[in-house]
Amino acid sequence: MRFHLAAVVSALSAVSLAAPVIEDVKRSSPPLPSTDSFYSVPENIASYAPGAIINHRAPPGAIAAFGLDPLNLEATYQISYRTSDNFGNATSTVLTVLVPSNADTSKVLSYQVAEDAANINCAPSYAMQLAANPGGLLGTAVTQAEILLIEAALYQGWVVVLPDHEGPTGAFLANHMSGHATLDGIRAALASTSITGIQSSARVAMWGYSGGSLASNWAAVLLPAYAPELADRIVGAAIGGTVPNIANVIDTVNKGPFAGLIASGIMGLSHAYPVVADVVKTKFEQPEKFQTVLSQCLVPDILEFLLADVKGMVTNQSLWTRPDIVALLNYNSLQYASAPPSTVPFYIYKSVLDEVSPVADTDNLVNAYCSAGATIEYTRDLVSEHGSLAAIGAPKALVWLKDRLDGQPAASGCSTNTLVSSLLDIATIEVLPSFLIEALSALLGGEIGPTFFG
Ligand SMILES: *[C@@H]1O[C@H](CO)[C@@H](O)[C@H](O)[C@H]1NC(C)=O
Ligand SMILES: *[C@@H]1O[C@H](CO)[C@@H](O)[C@H](O)[C@H]1NC(C)=O
Repeated sequence: MRFHLAAVVSALSAVSLAAPVIEDVKRSSPPLPSTDSFYSVPENIASYAPGAIINHRAPPGAIAAFGLDPLNLEATYQISYRTSDNFGNATSTVLTVLVPSNADTSKVLSYQVAEDAANINCAPSYAMQLAANPGGLLGTAVTQAEILLIEAALYQGWVVVLPDHEGPTGAFLANHMSGHATLDGIRAALASTSITGIQSSARVAMWGYSGGSLASNWAAVLLPAYAPELADRIVGAAIGGTVPNIANVIDTVNKGPFAGLIASGIMGLSHAYPVVADVVKTKFEQPEKFQTVLSQCLVPDILEFLLADVKGMVTNQSLWTRPDIVALLNYNSLQYASAPPSTVPFYIYKSVLDEVSPVADTDNLVNAYCSAGATIEYTRDLVSEHGSLAAIGAPKALVWLKDRLDGQPAASGCSTNTLVSSLLDIATIEVLPSFLIEALSALLGGEIGPTFFG
């Protein structure tokens, strides 16, 4: 996911105006994950069961944007826990736990951030801290903006947990890893009662947009085989800005404003696949340009490759049809994986004009899932595009999540609605406090206007 920079700047300035405290705290950055032993994978990691808690602490820095949160967080934690990498081998990652002051500890939202970077130092557990180094100018601005959605969830009284779902190396697009890390983060959360107060029998819902939709959707897909005991804990998943087919995203964004996603995706995959790291070094033109992605976060990646023909930056175009490359892209594409179980109902929202991943791919995915017996409410939104629907679609997603976490069963089977705008649904506004509506409007450009997006 990416919001237009001007909108992000406008949203962030609205945030800092409302929260002068931020300036006071902005003195020293917490240690980078790459230098912080809390993030190291223990040598005996294989002796831990998936989801087992390895260590915990208070975050070194305060969680950002909460200076303006009238709810005030009761407590925040970081938990390192055992998970499994893209191939099922033992590894570890970090979960952030946010407990609002009016917490209902029987309701947990697992929120997957759209980190979309190939660098451990862009992990949400780090990026959400007030004085975090953003990995380049506005590097983690999207994560910062997503804090507004997280606040909307905290306002409901839910405990929000956020896994660093790209794992200990920043393996963006190694999507089995993201699914495992999401499920194991939920296991760790449910096992953290003595630390966080979360009830072990809590209901859990998942939410994510774009890169965060990948982690959430994969978690549901992998659940029956990887974490069957969570089947009666997870009550639903709200998934927006879906990206079912990586190869089609590459074709869609190449030469456009989002072309940098190809570079961060390739470098993310290089962490999981040595063959990809090798291909970049030996078969790409300007390999050093791609290496810069390893030390910065999403927004600088986008700027680095703005409008670039990234697909063309290879010495031989046949690379893109090489069977092993095609196979690894497909292995990490939802289109080629099984459907989620019917016990995990989905709310899917997608802009009909999405310029990152064509809506047809999501239409096809929904059809395939529904044929396999999934439970899905699918909203196709006409007046939006990829970046803006993250905010426009959020209130309706939140209402759907609230019903699930309140214990209301989802309507069985599948339904599809094409709406002029997901925002023109007054009932959804009632779940949001006015300060958040204002912040979301700022994110949507406010007086700058929607034409500036993407
Ligand atoms: C990880 O898993 C793969 C595939 O199952 C295996 O070939 C490899 O040896 C494993 N690596 C480690 C470090 O265990
Ligand atoms: C590109 O690679 C293909 C497949 O390896 C090969 O057949 C072709 O000759 C190569 N083209 C060039 C210009 O090197």
